[in-house]
Amino acid sequence: MISIVVLPGDGIGPEVTGEAISCLELLSKERGLGLTFVEQDFGGVAIDKHGHPLPPETLEACKQADAVMLGAVGGDQWNDAAVRPEAGLLRIREELGLFANLRPAKVLSGLQDVSPLRPDISRDADILVVRELTGGIYFGERTRETHSASDLCSYTREEIERIAHVAFRSARHRRNKVTSVDKANVLATSKLWREVVTEVAEGYPDVELEHMYVDACAMALITHPRRFDVILTENLFGDILSDELSVIAGSIGLLGSASVGVSGPGLFEPIHGSAPAIAGLNEANPAGAIACAVMMLDELGLGDSGRILSTALEATLLEGYRTADLGGNATCSEFGERVRANLRDCLSRSDAYRELFAMNRGLCA
Ligand code: NAD
Ligand code: IPM
Ligand code: MN
Repeated sequence: MISIVVLPGDGIGPEVTGEAISCLELLSKERGLGLTFVEQDFGGVAIDKHGHPLPPETLEACKQADAVMLGAVGGDQWNDAAVRPEAGLLRIREELGLFANLRPAKVLSGLQDVSPLRPDISRDADILVVRELTGGIYFGERTRETHSASDLCSYTREEIERIAHVAFRSARHRRNKVTSVDKANVLATSKLWREVVTEVAEGYPDVELEHMYVDACAMALITHPRRFDVILTENLFGDILSDELSVIAGSIGLLGSASVGVSGPGLFEPIHGSAPAIAGLNEANPAGAIACAVMMLDELGLGDSGRILSTALEATLLEGYRTADLGGNATCSEFGERVRANLRDCLSRSDAYRELFAMNRGLCA
């Protein structure tokens, strides 16, 4: 049995996560994966029910789980809560030690038309943002007086080292290039960041390292997205650059992410938020949530199940099924249904391939 805690959260969270879980249930049933799902309250809905965005029983359930799937949290009605839904999200990342957030984005060939960039610019872009997730300005001391406020940004050598290793190791499975993004022409934390990343790079002579200032990176992402492979950056820059990255692929609704630590369950979270304006309308794009399910299957080491689900997802987009954010008219549930139809198709074909493979092996033996 593999136990998965589901945190649907607020706004479009329940809609998009629902579609992803239905895909996983189908896959689990067909392939005997033994996935079990338990929902827990998290975010604004948990504030309404329990007075806190991350109730102790939710946190405990997450700690005991093999993986956690998150929808999204937040909404204007909770902006003045003593502890906001977003603070609950930071807390769960910290409590689970999830210092590495992996945000991949790819422009699929045949899908350049959904990117607002010219096809000759967006074509074949394939980028992984490795975002530091439990340090920096998100977790520093905050002060607020009537006429002044401050947020402390700090990083330790160790925090930078461990995330740099994640980026270099990831690059080895890709195209062997890391672009480390900082603001070392101004910030002390960025000067340390650059120094430590340069040291870590010495252990990876096969991986090319370049440094880039965050403002220049924001521009180059749009003008030359193909020049990037792995982008390694701190918490705040990674948040901003990954929303920008999603536009290259076509929509923020397409991107999933995996937040992982040294041990314990990973948290799989789309990069988008609760999109209050379209919540409950069955309009949201569930592709990012389904991409999270793919990453979770891979992280759990469930063989080619992740690849099969990602093939079904890509096939759905390529055959023209698109939600409103991509200029289409498929609803959230129609898109999910179509992914599952394609999944059934992929599964029957993969069974046929497996039989063929077993037969050939028999013949060779
Ligand atoms: P958002 O990502 O919710 O929405 C930005 C824009 O993208 C909106 O136009 C929205 O309609 C659209 N969008 C987002 N996801 C979509 C999807 N799957 N399909 C189609 N369109 C989609 O960001 P925001 O409006 O800045 O924030 C809304 C709330 O969400 C805030 O409370 C914010 O703090 C929170 N938030 C939560 C997370 C999270 O839970 N991980 C992430 C970002 C923002
Ligand atoms: C994200 C979100 C969160 C972040 C917010 C909601 C705290 O924007 O996951 O990208 O900034 O990390
Ligand atoms: Mn964000």
